[in-house]
Amino acid sequence: MKANIKYLSSYLPENIITNYDLEKTLDTNNDWIVTRTGIEERRIADKTESSGDMAIKAVNKLKEKGAFIDDADAIIVATSTKSYTFPSTAGLIQKSFNIKNSCLAFDISAACSGYIYALNTAASLIESKECKKVLVVASEKCSDIVNWQDRSTAILFGDGVSAALLEAEEGDKGIISTDIGAESNDEILIVKGGGSASPITEENVEDKTNTIYMAGTEVFKKAVKTFDDTINKTVKNANLELKDLSLVITHQANTRIMNAVAKNLGLSDDKFYVNIQKYGNTSAASVGIAFTEAFESGNIKNGDYVLLTAFGAGLTWGSTLIKF
Ligand code: ACO
Repeated sequence: MKANIKYLSSYLPENIITNYDLEKTLDTNNDWIVTRTGIEERRIADKTESSGDMAIKAVNKLKEKGAFIDDADAIIVATSTKSYTFPSTAGLIQKSFNIKNSCLAFDISAACSGYIYALNTAASLIESKECKKVLVVASEKCSDIVNWQDRSTAILFGDGVSAALLEAEEGDKGIISTDIGAESNDEILIVKGGGSASPITEENVEDKTNTIYMAGTEVFKKAVKTFDDTINKTVKNANLELKDLSLVITHQANTRIMNAVAKNLGLSDDKFYVNIQKYGNTSAASVGIAFTEAFESGNIKNGDYVLLTAFGAGLTWGSTLIKF
């Protein structure tokens, strides 16, 4: 029994913030941002639109494409920017779409690797026959946890959602190999404020401890090495070789990371699907947004092997290899 991807969707807020817009409030410029990251613009949600609201819009788009979700056995939402401490965003989706009461509904906190963590968990639930149909959503309103006065992080992030419906199917199509990993590190990538270690107070809001701290260069190096390892492991698990991959879709964090990974693996840059220029880093949502776009624009054909991979805070990482 395999977990096959039956429907994909994404939702991006309409409001576009370009690098030129950021030049007006930060000591930065379009050339620096494009050269160092590949980002040209990002979408930023309205103040009144929560990540849960955005998640519901992405699931609605799945339904518009024909997905029947009322009988989903599980709803897994990857988010680091949830609407409420509780209930979970998965619970909000269940209520909004009147999904049956016997379904599992829970959120995953794995930062930028959240979509992969959720997909691989969904695959395990399906392969073990615990579930037949699993709804996966990755929803992030990064703009709420960005320090808009810090040029080293404010230029990177955007808001968005991706969603997928997976179903149990016999045959050779679907998720054929997965990898997942973690290595605790609270020094190079962290949002300190907001949890019980540092509840939000007037002082730490003032100090911006409720926003993203990232030691960019350390994260960059760690990301490149980890992507190499997890991609190799996942391809090997499937008894395939790197040359068999039709498309690689990484977490959209930085084009220089993607280029370095391609070079290390001996793959051409055009095997890597890139849309970071339009949306920036949308954390957990980014792989799924790029995957949906690649699929809808005809970049994925029958018989293709598509590898999804991500790295993020935690530190966390993982890969999913799918046969179409
Ligand atoms: N505009 C202009 N100059 C800037 C900006 C900016 N926006 N930001 C930093 N600089 C300056 C720095 O101050 C520094 O100046 P200095 O040399 O005078 O000290 C110089 O540019 C170089 O800064 P670095 O931080 O060394 O730049 P780097 O080339 O490393 O690029 C970046 C920074 C883009 C953040 C990169 O390190 C990166 O992409 N890191 C990985 C991000 C990532 O993968 N995150 C993982 C997931 S995120 C998650 O899980 C939530």
